[in-house]
Amino acid sequence: MRAKGKTTQRLDKVLSNMGFGSRAELKKKAKSGSIVVNGTVVKDPGKHVDPYTDSIEIDGETIAYREFVYLMLHKPPGVISATEDVRERTVLDLLDEKYLVFEPFPVGRLDKDTEGLLLLTNDGKLAHELLSPRKHVPKTYQAIVEGRVDEEDIRQFSRGVTLDDGYVTLPSELVIDALEEQGDGSIRSRITLTIHEGKFHQVKRMFEAVGKKVIYLKRISMGTLRLDESLEIGSYRELTKAELAGIGRATDE
Ligand code: URA
Repeated sequence: MRAKGKTTQRLDKVLSNMGFGSRAELKKKAKSGSIVVNGTVVKDPGKHVDPYTDSIEIDGETIAYREFVYLMLHKPPGVISATEDVRERTVLDLLDEKYLVFEPFPVGRLDKDTEGLLLLTNDGKLAHELLSPRKHVPKTYQAIVEGRVDEEDIRQFSRGVTLDDGYVTLPSELVIDALEEQGDGSIRSRITLTIHEGKFHQVKRMFEAVGKKVIYLKRISMGTLRLDESLEIGSYRELTKAELAGIGRATDE
């Protein structure tokens, strides 16, 4: 984390980065006397301030400055894990403007039809730490698979399976949670799978490699982060202090 009190920045830059308006709008606000720094009205929007240690108020509201934002999203199906797209709705379309000003992006991708845990942040270093192929950060998924997942699938997944492009996956942990008979007599399997890498469509392709089809997929954890099941599908919240500490981003308050 950044050491406190080392960097000063222009007041209007700090405020526009936080979503309090454009430089021109902030210039007007400053002139009208609605910006106060450490108890004194500041009319010069170019004044240098330390956003971490100076108390900055705008229209009577004290701003809580921070550089990074960390959001846990319960991704719904039907939105894509991208920051922009000409045709599709993206996960950023679910966020409030007060978070968009930080320019967050999704850490890794879930398929359009996949639900569950997606972290959004503007902390590029963290994204790298969580996604680096060398770190083998575990990701756990729950899935519904057509057919009967069995002990042989568990064995094959624990050794690694060969995907359609010849890639042999790292060992993964497959658990069969339930076998459910459907009205037409067919069987569906509810499973939990933990993988330690993140190839394109990996879970679906692993089941294809053993002749089975995933019909529902939800991510429930990534590293130390676990999907908060009280988060309704499509909603999000900031990470808690404990969650931040778990990903090595302890708060310094
Ligand atoms: N594996 C998949 O097949 N899809 C996802 O969205 C995530 C993992």
